Amino acid sequence: MLKETVISHLIKPEDLQHHGTLFAGRMADWLIETCFIAACRLVGKPEDVVCVQIHGINFNKPATSGDIIEVKARIALVGVTSITVHGQAFNNEEKAPSVTGMATFVTVDKGGKPYAYGLSLPEEYIAQNREIYEEALKVRGSR
Ligand SMILES: CC(C)(COP(=O)(O)OP(=O)(O)OC[C@H]1O[C@@H](n2cnc3c(N)ncnc32)[C@H](O)[C@@H]1OP(=O)(O)O)[C@@H](O)C(=O)NCCC(=O)NCCS
Repeated sequence: MLKETVISHLIKPEDLQHHGTLFAGRMADWLIETCFIAACRLVGKPEDVVCVQIHGINFNKPATSGDIIEVKARIALVGVTSITVHGQAFNNEEKAPSVTGMATFVTVDKGGKPYAYGLSLPEEYIAQNREIYEEALKVRGSR
């Protein structure tokens, strides 16, 4: 399923670090979880999906207690056994993302061995999401 995955979080005092803004580890958790759910929805078998790489997370703008963070994840690239997902987080429905990042997941069998899940991205989807598709190609490099 190629629908965007969207999860909202209310930032609470326990989510903050000593500067009084959202702790990066909490934000990373929310971002990667949303990307993971997007990959699971594509494959249809959450129990088979593992994360192999987080390609980097950019924190562009701080958020604080009481802010509502909306995390959005879209499939950026599919390989044979791998899926690269692009994630963004928005503060209080702002237009520009406060956080962006990408993660790659792999489908594994019960023995932990990668297997081909047999899906590809329709040309139309790639055309509509070309920016993240190309970004994913870049971060995946030769892999
Ligand atoms: C995921 C895992 C099974 C991959 O094993 P592997 O021997 O590297 O597998 P392969 O070399 O056959 O690669 C499988 C796919 O992963 C991709 N891949 C492997 N390492 C990668 C990396 N570091 N970054 C991005 N993609 C990677 C390959 O390109 C390949 O993609 P494709 O099939 O779409 O072409 C293995 O690394 C693993 O078990 N890792 C731990 C996963 C885990 O526990 N995650 C939770 C972390 S807390």
